[in-house]
Amino acid sequence: MNNPNLTTMDSTPQSSTTGPHPKATAVFTCVLGGLAGLMFGLDIGVISGAQQFIQHDFRISDTTLEHIVSWMMLGAAVGAIGAGWLSSTLGRKKSLLWGSLIFVVASVICGIGSSVEVLLIGRLILGVSIGILSFTAPMYLAEIAPENIRGAMVSIYQLMITIGIFLAFLSDTAFSYSGNWHWMLGIIAIPGALFFLGVFALPESPRWLMMRGLNEQATKVLTKLRGNPAVVQKEEAEIAEQLKIPQRGWHMFLENRNFRRSVGLGIMLQIVQQFTGMNVVMYYAPRIFQDMGYHTEAQLWFTAIVGLVNVLATLIAIFLVDKWGRKPILYTGFSVMAIGLGVVGTMMHLGIVTQPERLFTVAMLLVFIVGFAMSAGPLIWILCSEVQPIKGRDFGIAISTLTNWVANFVVGFTFLSLLNNFGHAQTFWLYAGFNVVFLVLTFFLIPETKGVTLEHIERNLMAGKPLRNIGQ
Ligand code: BGC
Repeated sequence: MNNPNLTTMDSTPQSSTTGPHPKATAVFTCVLGGLAGLMFGLDIGVISGAQQFIQHDFRISDTTLEHIVSWMMLGAAVGAIGAGWLSSTLGRKKSLLWGSLIFVVASVICGIGSSVEVLLIGRLILGVSIGILSFTAPMYLAEIAPENIRGAMVSIYQLMITIGIFLAFLSDTAFSYSGNWHWMLGIIAIPGALFFLGVFALPESPRWLMMRGLNEQATKVLTKLRGNPAVVQKEEAEIAEQLKIPQRGWHMFLENRNFRRSVGLGIMLQIVQQFTGMNVVMYYAPRIFQDMGYHTEAQLWFTAIVGLVNVLATLIAIFLVDKWGRKPILYTGFSVMAIGLGVVGTMMHLGIVTQPERLFTVAMLLVFIVGFAMSAGPLIWILCSEVQPIKGRDFGIAISTLTNWVANFVVGFTFLSLLNNFGHAQTFWLYAGFNVVFLVLTFFLIPETKGVTLEHIERNLMAGKPLRNIGQ
């Protein structure tokens, strides 16, 4: 894996006339790189359907189950911390290779899952892999995508995550008939291995190559991706210009109050995203359906429907994001989520007895999913990539990505305990309440960044404007 020829091998000189069409190469590269999002989604989704079978086989408590679910997020936090170093030292491509290799190994360990301890270790390592991939892939995509689709790549990446979650739910449903949770957890090693092989075909990021002074190789990659020599030259000049601005995130964090504000905003945005309660449903949907009185197969089919609705509603966000703007979408999303969860909680409080009551509650849970997928799902990632000043961008995005995983851990680690200690209705009301609070936070703290250049946002931030106004 550390073969220094890897990058040279991929960057074989290809002029626009001899190789595949550059546009096709760029699309191929973006799609392949975006598959890291699919791995992210598989990772999130795979545990939901397996839980009850694991609990039954090992006769473990809800608390141990929470550990099995959440150690993945703990590992991801560790992976995200290490990924910064890995991707700047070894390069983006090798970082993706390591991430996917670890993914395969960890999925096999989880699949073997001969004891709770093995399962915990497997989940932790799986997390490390996804921490690496979830940090490196968006950065890589931003570095190789042509300028006109760079912003859209974030949304496409989110779409890939939701497709991954949906596929994991589907495969869990298929295996639920045999109850074989080992296969449920192990099977994702196959897409992981395919992704690993696919990464070999990816070029190294031109920006990273230039950071390392490998300008000739960078030119070759850019020629392969863009074709037109004038475009290549312009992009090289831009990258060279950007590289003159050293990344000094940590120093800036200590010295500059305005930068601390944008880092704080990134942290808040990710906490908000996780505390909407989305991952409660992603990890524990079958359990929620079980508590509504559905039998195992129905639980998993409904979970698959949840996954499908998540994919479809993400398309709404992609369509709306540059039309409506960030804040109106967030207001709509948080309101829809608050109503959805509030009603689910109320139904649980009143008692779900009849079939129409059950179906209505499922429908309201789906309303909640729509609320998330059309808003906070993609938008939080978009905002996090927009609000950091250039000198501190790597640092700022690393901190917000790390926060995503830590908050994700807290949510996954506490849900069953909340259910058991406070009750179903109260737990759903709690999350509904969070979404109401997020409406207020959106009003006071979140900026509207639609149609504004990143430079403009940075100028306003550094001028000390209130966060909600940095996009004006
Ligand atoms: C979040 C994940 C979540 C997924 C659901 C992503 O934006 O970061 O935590 O599981 O959306 O679609």
